Amino acid sequence: MRSHSRQLVANSLSLFRCRGRVRARRSGEERIEHFDDVGVVMERDIFGVALLEWVRGSRDYETFERDDGYFCEGDGRSAYLAPIREWYDAERKSLKLVRGRVLDVGCGAGRVSLELQRRGFDVVGIDSSARVVKAARDSGVLQVWHSAIEDIGEELRDFETIVLYGNNFGMLGTPTATRRWFREWASLAHPESRILAVSTSPYFGGAPCVTRGYYHFNKSRGRLPGLLSYRYHYQGLVGPWSKWLFVSRREMRDMLVGTGWHIESVVAPHPSEPYVAVLKLDTPERTSRRSIKKIS
Ligand SMILES: C[S@@+](CC[C@H](N)C(=O)[O-])C[C@H]1O[C@@H](n2cnc3c(N)ncnc32)[C@H](O)[C@@H]1O
Repeated sequence: MRSHSRQLVANSLSLFRCRGRVRARRSGEERIEHFDDVGVVMERDIFGVALLEWVRGSRDYETFERDDGYFCEGDGRSAYLAPIREWYDAERKSLKLVRGRVLDVGCGAGRVSLELQRRGFDVVGIDSSARVVKAARDSGVLQVWHSAIEDIGEELRDFETIVLYGNNFGMLGTPTATRRWFREWASLAHPESRILAVSTSPYFGGAPCVTRGYYHFNKSRGRLPGLLSYRYHYQGLVGPWSKWLFVSRREMRDMLVGTGWHIESVVAPHPSEPYVAVLKLDTPERTSRRSIKKIS
């Protein structure tokens, strides 16, 4: 997830892939919903609609609407279809930490899977959106599963590296959901596995659509400063409200305490850019050292 914090430039309503529309009633409100060849209501998957359009050549931008009424333009296709030479330094450099079979969680159009595939890795991309899965397959990713992160179970044990690139550490939105998910994965993952988790600190202007004013607004309502509450707009379509979490390294470290994972090292060449945290499973000694510390 990337964006420029710029004011909205309205996208034109082209919807040239739209195959049909229906009148629907949701939360007591009547609205028109659109369908394309994938069959899922387009309004429920704006990112997937945009990504599929980008893979098919569109140059339109997605826009974020924040819950305080502010709009920012996203990076469009340039972020999600970028070849490795255009990636942020941390993501590019940390690829050398990848080992064994790889799970690319929230793979998008396959930017990362394609590069790993090119390097000879056995990589599986997963994504919760059927449109995104189609976009990844159309881009050339050989193994893509249509699955949400929450639905991965025993299969996790077969992967030595799990990558959460493109700020995907924050994909579950809230600290509670993120912690719950890491705790679950600690019991399922291979003991030697590592997670390469990407986030961007909300404090240096690099986190998509998180401005200084917004993190103060979040703090004033008791939320983590980098909790972005937003909805996507693309070609006149408007998506549902959603949350994405951006954390500093310290916030990530604190959030992981008690989940079974810890930060082993961090690749962070520039404070305002995404960083990559290498997460490893706690060893029994590490866990008991922590509990002794807590008691004393
Ligand atoms: C910000 S994009 C990152 C794409 C890719 N990793 C990259 O760096 O180019 C996030 C992706 O995660 C997917 N996603 C969001 N929530 C998910 C979930 N709970 N399980 C699996 N995929 C999810 C979205 O559909 C989207 O493709």
